[in-house]
Amino acid sequence: MEIIIAKHSGFCSGVKKAVELVEKNISSDVVTLGPVVHNQSVTEYFKNKGVDYIDNHRGINNKRVIIRSHGVTPEIITQLKANNNTVIDGTCPFVSRVQKLAEEVVTTGKQLIILGDESHPEIIGVKGWAKDNAIIINKLEDLKTIKLDPTKGISVVAQTTFDNENFSKIITELKSIIPKTEALELEIHNTICKATRDRQSAVREMAQKVDTVLVIGGKKSSNTAKLTSICKEIGVVTYQIEEAKQIDLNWLKNTKKIGIAAGASTPDWIIREVTSMVNEVTEKQNEVTESEVTENEVTETEVTQTQATETEVTEESNGSEQEQTWETIQAAFDNKTTLTGKAVEVVKGGILIDLGIRAFMPASLVDTKFVEDLNEFVGQELTFLVKEIDKEKNKVILSRKDLLLEEKQGAQKDIFANLKEGTRVKGIVRRMTDFGAFVDIGGIDGLVHVSNLSWSRVKHPSDILEVGQEIEVDILKLDEEKQKISLSYKTTQKSPFESNIKNFKEGSIVEGKVVRLADFGAFVELAPQIDGLVHISQISDDHISKTSEVLAVGQTVNVKILEIDTKTKRISLSIKEAKPKEDFSKYAGDSDSLNVTLGDSFPDLSELFKKKD
Ligand code: F3S
Repeated sequence: MEIIIAKHSGFCSGVKKAVELVEKNISSDVVTLGPVVHNQSVTEYFKNKGVDYIDNHRGINNKRVIIRSHGVTPEIITQLKANNNTVIDGTCPFVSRVQKLAEEVVTTGKQLIILGDESHPEIIGVKGWAKDNAIIINKLEDLKTIKLDPTKGISVVAQTTFDNENFSKIITELKSIIPKTEALELEIHNTICKATRDRQSAVREMAQKVDTVLVIGGKKSSNTAKLTSICKEIGVVTYQIEEAKQIDLNWLKNTKKIGIAAGASTPDWIIREVTSMVNEVTEKQNEVTESEVTENEVTETEVTQTQATETEVTEESNGSEQEQTWETIQAAFDNKTTLTGKAVEVVKGGILIDLGIRAFMPASLVDTKFVEDLNEFVGQELTFLVKEIDKEKNKVILSRKDLLLEEKQGAQKDIFANLKEGTRVKGIVRRMTDFGAFVDIGGIDGLVHVSNLSWSRVKHPSDILEVGQEIEVDILKLDEEKQKISLSYKTTQKSPFESNIKNFKEGSIVEGKVVRLADFGAFVELAPQIDGLVHISQISDDHISKTSEVLAVGQTVNVKILEIDTKTKRISLSIKEAKPKEDFSKYAGDSDSLNVTLGDSFPDLSELFKKKD
């Protein structure tokens, strides 16, 4: 299988600059606003070094905040600074140019059209610089829906990673639909960056020469997605992957020529891992068809590698010792037990381990996280599992990563075993997202959903919590199978009912606001989060058939507190009993008047009776 790697693969200058900026500023008070690049391995690499990312700038105080290459709106910069944060700007200069253009266009009163994906962070940022005054177009059909003012000029800019061909198609169509008036000047800025254009044209060229393409890059990476769609449009079988272990060997079975391309946010080490894995598969394929291959057809690399392996085996072992070593390795493989051996040398794509014979540990299987320099392991005794063994081919593949993952899972099992639903534990807020906060409760993260953060409504977790804050949480639910833990912060706080109910006494008359009407009565708010029910029979002395006949939501009413049930948190109220009672004594006069008879009051009455007699 022949491998062609597309030119201009991997980190572009803008991403490189942002990554270097984070590397230079590693410290516990540094966070990046969003993952520095759309790549899980890079995110994890920095997280392990102590620099995590935040999803939202709100509630971030006294930090150094790195803005990634996509840039942000000017409001975000202002708010970050207002909250005592230091802003470290990693916006790519090409993106800054688009932001500046957008700002200028709207200042001059022209109509701004942005070609790009409105949900992409870069476009959200650029739109902010245009004071949200922009029309976003992502595909040709979007042109049908736009409304342009024929009296104002138009200026077009594009997302730096927009597809170049799509850009040309949209511009041609736009020119044909806008009215030809002198006032309607059309200004076009092709702001697609050179790195994007280079990558797109290189992948176009490469995809036409191969029968399968592997595009390496993050799922959320816009420029990687464009490379994938270019290859698919050309008609070549294309797979987008994030790392080497996602390669399904079946994809490569009948492949003669394979192309490898990588987006601008893909680090070199992942490209190397993928390439060495494809190389490995190629070697295997060549071994199978060895008899059909003439010596001249074997590439230089393959010859070198084969020779090296043979020499290593003969140098290290003699007959019976070697046999015993193979048995030990085979037993470890069969029983999934660990072996220990010394890392002796870094070779292309991994490390050689001395087990009596030299076994290979691919770079991707050395650790659970990315290892920058494998040399740090040379000379160390490592413990690992045997991943693959093929005695006939003198081949042993080891994995320390599998063992570390097993250990981690075991540790998590232990943690789960010690946790109990309904108990209260201490934790540290590690990360926040729009839907909640992740809290580390002793080696494992649980989620406090936004609805379980507070008794009152919370827009974002950062409204009440800070990353790094130590808090107490109640364990609501444990799901060991899915490794999910639901936590509650609000239940550790006194509810508004518990805090405020002491201010209310049965029998007292207080003011409240009608918050809801039902057939059976009206709910009246006495204080925030403290509502009581006025049953329909307690609304008026007169008969009413509907609560809305006499009450309306928002109305202020006086109510008498009939009963407070602290257990069920129910309060019964009465409006009719809160009304002042009519004073009938005023009709009574002094006590003597009570001796007055009917005859005294109506003297003619006796005459009337007399006549009848
Ligand atoms: Fe900048 Fe282009 Fe890279 S805009 S971040 S150089 S893809």
